Amino acid sequence: MTAPLWDPQQYLRHADHRTRPFRDLLARVPELPDAPAPRIADLGCGAGNVTALLAERWPRARITGYDNSPQMLERARAHATALLDFAEADAATWTPSEPYDLIVSNALLQWVPGHAGRFPDWLDALTPGGTFALQVPGNFDQPSHALMRELAESPRWRSRLGGSLRHADAVLSPAGYLEHLTAPGITADVWETTYLHLLHGEDAVLDWVKGTGLRPVLTTLADDEKARDAFLAEYRDLLRAAYPAGPHGTVFPFRRLFAVAHREK
Ligand SMILES: C[S@@+](CC[C@H](N)C(=O)[O-])C[C@H]1O[C@@H](n2cnc3c(N)ncnc32)[C@H](O)[C@@H]1O
Repeated sequence: MTAPLWDPQQYLRHADHRTRPFRDLLARVPELPDAPAPRIADLGCGAGNVTALLAERWPRARITGYDNSPQMLERARAHATALLDFAEADAATWTPSEPYDLIVSNALLQWVPGHAGRFPDWLDALTPGGTFALQVPGNFDQPSHALMRELAESPRWRSRLGGSLRHADAVLSPAGYLEHLTAPGITADVWETTYLHLLHGEDAVLDWVKGTGLRPVLTTLADDEKARDAFLAEYRDLLRAAYPAGPHGTVFPFRRLFAVAHREK
């Protein structure tokens, strides 16, 4: 799969809707151990707007947002403070070099093949009473992604885009997360939610996926404006039929999976 180029501006266009699952995840993170300055890692911090929410909840914490996109990190650094910084790291290989009270990862791990293999190292780094919390999309079988994949694999596009998009196996099942996050001394809480995002504006679902799921296509076709526009026009027509605009907006159902693993004190 092509490593996608990210566009923070496009990603943030739906920040309200996108931040909701992060808030719901945080609501299930217990208070952090009584440390003078809790230590927090935000893996795949993106544009840093959700990392800033961690600083709001734990104002004395030392927080580092990690990401492997220079574009996202540049945008994130606008949120930096004396206690909040950002650094480049690949979640596929990131190994904590110090104990953490909280490791959080929101809408990242679907981009990291085999990510459950990293969990033992991350759980090992948790302080007593520490938490690892994750949220991933669980919508790869939905029309937004299925239509994108079918078009990319169609005879017209296969030679350029075949194999560039992720399938349902990009994430585990809820039971799979529970299994990988339950260990001696660790308890896990796993759940799923389907949000019915009510989006506004023309071709709102296309606008949404341009910020995330469609990045590999936009990256592969970045140097060929004509081809990119042709793909977008075909995909847009499919989305219009799958997600018709209603009188109050376009309903975009979005399933998300959550897991919170907690080390006993
Ligand atoms: C959908 S965005 C989520 C950003 C942020 N966590 C949020 O909730 O707004 C996914 C982020 O993961 C980052 N990412 C993708 N693969 C990564 C990897 N292997 N290592 C680190 N970051 C990665 C991308 O650069 C992007 O910023």
